Amino acid sequence: MSDQQLWTAVDDYLVSALLPPDPALDDALRRATDAGLPEIAVAPNQGRLLNLIARVRGARRVLEIGTLGGYSTIWLARALPQDGRVVTLEFDPRHAAVARENIAAAGLAGVVEVLVGPALETLPTLTGPFDVVFVDADKDNNPAYFEWAMRLTAPGSVIIIDNVVRGGRVADPDDTSPAVVGTRRMHELIRAESRVAATAVQTVGEKGHDGFTLVYREA
Ligand code: SAH
Ligand code: DHB
Ligand code: MG
Repeated sequence: MSDQQLWTAVDDYLVSALLPPDPALDDALRRATDAGLPEIAVAPNQGRLLNLIARVRGARRVLEIGTLGGYSTIWLARALPQDGRVVTLEFDPRHAAVARENIAAAGLAGVVEVLVGPALETLPTLTGPFDVVFVDADKDNNPAYFEWAMRLTAPGSVIIIDNVVRGGRVADPDDTSPAVVGTRRMHELIRAESRVAATAVQTVGEKGHDGFTLVYREA
């Protein structure tokens, strides 16, 4: 058995052991695959983690950068009270269309707003503060996304950045691809930012070896 097969088998076990069946989320993944979207949504147990972080925070307003087919969006939207709001930013109109269909089918059309366009153009149109920000788009822009997340949050807010390990590439000094450099530069900004406390955790699972960075705004 390869490492990847083992990680997938354990994810299958953990999801079947702890997460109830979820037709709306299964349908969302199926629609995304049928529409030809890349299969890079967070895994179910990771989506559940986002949902729990938002609930622990008591979040009412969530910002997501990188919607894809709305899978993580649905997990986050379900964490909110009835008058809660998710704003999710997506560059690709085809992805946004699939996401809107999935969000509506999950009964969350009244909670989620999908804004289409490059995030660096839609972020300046937003008004904070958001309680949770999930950064999961083009990784080369992670430094700018972190700076925007700081502008659009308040003390007590949580910022989560996905895919910060990339099979270990983040720690390989010979890897100078824009996505890896962007994530390293973002970590430098986080380290230099006196208003936050942060950590990062590497993960293995059905989506391979990766990780996320968790930032808490103290001030
Ligand atoms: N959060 C999703 C996965 C997002 S995949 C989930 O876990 O379910 C990354 C998404 O970011 C893709 O849909 C891609 O089109 C989008 N994206 C890439 N560059 C972007 C940009 N500059 N602005 C906004 N979205 C972008
Ligand atoms: C990629 C993007 C993601 O958000 C992810 O979770 C996995 C992979 C990618 O661009 O390859
Ligand atoms: Mg991701």
